[in-house]
Amino acid sequence: MVSVLMVCLGNICRSPLAEGVLKSKLDLEKFHIDSAGTAAYHIGKSPDARSIAVAKKYGVDIKSQKARLFIKSDFKLFDYIYVMDQSNYKNVLGLADTDMDRSKVRLILEEIAQSENLEVPDPYYGGKQGFEDVYQLLDKSCTVIADKLNV
Ligand code: 4NP
Repeated sequence: MVSVLMVCLGNICRSPLAEGVLKSKLDLEKFHIDSAGTAAYHIGKSPDARSIAVAKKYGVDIKSQKARLFIKSDFKLFDYIYVMDQSNYKNVLGLADTDMDRSKVRLILEEIAQSENLEVPDPYYGGKQGFEDVYQLLDKSCTVIADKLNV
């Protein structure tokens, strides 16, 4: 089974959306998709209500997800590790032991590379529009990822 892990800081705003959106595009009998955060603040919590709402608007249900921490063993469990921003990238690579670990990590927006800025903005301290913008970026990226995984 091919496995994909989505990673952000808190695992309550961006990576739960990325997990839900990618799951909605794949046959889950063939793929294992999960998400995690590099910070421990929100472990065990449900996704942010604004992420739940924007996902629901597009028919994606993420409300039963629970935040967890990214840990070293995730490098062995997952084939692909997508991070949302440069800070996540640095934090995840900081836990890598081998070139194989490092080779699995990629900025999710590299999949669409529509601009110089390859970061999914952190919407936590902003308003509802930020979550809509994040959803659109992740939906585009996950369409490309799902197309690649399905070949
Ligand atoms: P996320 O957003 O990394 O997309 O889940 C954040 C959630 C919480 C915090 C920061 C970012 N926080 O500082 O608590």
